[in-house]
Amino acid sequence: MTKKWWHDKVAYQIYPKSFYDSNGDGIGDIPGIISKLDYLQDLGVDILWLSPCYQSPLADQGYDISDYYAIDPRFGTMEDMDRLIAEAKKRNMYILMDLVVNHCSDEHEWFRKACEDPEGKYGNFFYLRDKKEGELPTNWRSYFGGPVWEDLPGTNKQYLHVFHKKQPDLNWENPELREEVYKNINWWLDKGLGGFRIDAIMNIKKALPFRDYEPDREDGLSSIQNMLHEASGIGEFLGEMRDRTFKKYDAFSVGEVFDEKPEEIPDFIGENGYFSSMFDFNETIFGQSSKGWYDAAPVMPDDYKKCCFEAQARIGSIGFLSNIIENHDESRGVSRYIPEGECCIESKKMLAALNFMLRGLPFIYQGQELGMENTVFSSIDEVDDISTLDEYRVALDAGLTPAQALKAVSRFSRDNARTPMQWSAGANAGFTDGTPWLKVNPNYTSINVEAQMDDPDSVRSFYKKLIALRKDPVYKETVVYGSLEPVWEERHNLMAYYRKGDKMLLVIGNYQTDAQEIALPAAYKKVLINNYPDLEECGGVLRLKGYQALVLEI
Ligand code: GLC
Ligand code: CA
Repeated sequence: MTKKWWHDKVAYQIYPKSFYDSNGDGIGDIPGIISKLDYLQDLGVDILWLSPCYQSPLADQGYDISDYYAIDPRFGTMEDMDRLIAEAKKRNMYILMDLVVNHCSDEHEWFRKACEDPEGKYGNFFYLRDKKEGELPTNWRSYFGGPVWEDLPGTNKQYLHVFHKKQPDLNWENPELREEVYKNINWWLDKGLGGFRIDAIMNIKKALPFRDYEPDREDGLSSIQNMLHEASGIGEFLGEMRDRTFKKYDAFSVGEVFDEKPEEIPDFIGENGYFSSMFDFNETIFGQSSKGWYDAAPVMPDDYKKCCFEAQARIGSIGFLSNIIENHDESRGVSRYIPEGECCIESKKMLAALNFMLRGLPFIYQGQELGMENTVFSSIDEVDDISTLDEYRVALDAGLTPAQALKAVSRFSRDNARTPMQWSAGANAGFTDGTPWLKVNPNYTSINVEAQMDDPDSVRSFYKKLIALRKDPVYKETVVYGSLEPVWEERHNLMAYYRKGDKMLLVIGNYQTDAQEIALPAAYKKVLINNYPDLEECGGVLRLKGYQALVLEI
């Protein structure tokens, strides 16, 4: 395998709106990020992925872009962005922007021009169909609920939006649109970006010609997935994009890829793949129900293990997954993957170690390094996220009471990850001097950066140790490139695996509160990571304490 500059890196996702507010308007901003670069450098991360901060009406929190060449004034200016790239560079850090090109905003100039002249150049930038009374062009349900078709203002046409109606889909079949996308990517790469995280990319290829699919809920609509499963040929677009943009710059690209076909994995992330890497969502999607969030099953420890190992086996040594515990679209990982009532410092560290030591690129989402947890919503009015609001309605329609529906959707709300970063025990968790745009998680008085910075036993200090191990010249080769082999796979509530390279490492997590014993296959040479001060061993048998996590050199 050809070595790449990004293979040994550790990435960190910033959700700008909730990271740090520098001017008291309650909204995080780019100068706020710049002021925290030293914090991030101290943690040891190298690649920073910024969720969108382009000009946007923020209907979907910036994933609806009205100008790809401008920074939204709420987040700062283009000068701030240039300064961020330069300041990051000084610290050997790379900035990734979010590339949102399945759709733009209905406030983008292209869309305005399409409304003015649907038969003209910009009409063909979108998917437009003639409007027929009492009938939609297709029966697809959008990700955020309701039909994917909306009237094109001032015309007798309708446009397609697989997400929100303020996010019209761009027509990738049109070479002129693709040129515009490549031009924009290169413009940003010329500024010195490290690369991009690529949003919702599997949606760019539609199954043509459009047709109806089997309805799967009482609304008579059919999940958008049904159409997407049938689409083929996305590789032509993705290969062209790679060649015209990322490849020329040796940029890092990580795709938000769902539902790739197993035989296509080498095309996606093998040598000369469309992307450098793609996220592992195997754990994320586990337990999902086609009925909605209210019907989703919890992820138990054995499920978590199975999902991770399955994803690892699928990729093998073809390329590198990007491993996440959470992101801005998910609830907090510690609340999701640790059984209810068992979230504690030890279990948070165990989850960190098990995920971090997997083969692939570790991504940390802001606040994950502190063990930030899901928040509490006392009313649906406290929810901002459009996806949660839709799922709440779905739950009510299914017959849940408002209290039940709130409880059900709270577990999965994207706002759990979007509450402000907890910097201190001071007002608003030290995130802003003003009123935060989204309520701070009330547990900020105990979970915050200030409290954890100098505490050697904090979750943050544990993440620092994991990052340091990945960078340790003695172990780096094995941690980055070593193969992964599960051990004791059938043992209940135990997740363990080898990482085999020029060294041999054994990663073990006792995924429960009760102690459990394991007989080591060979004596260990060294304890590299341990979330307890000690390790009980007797004649080659380890007695693991509740949620004990270890990385041993064998
Ligand atoms: C991706 C983003 C999500 C957004 C959606 C539409 O899934 O991560 O936040 O809502 O795409 O752009
Ligand atoms: Ca601000």
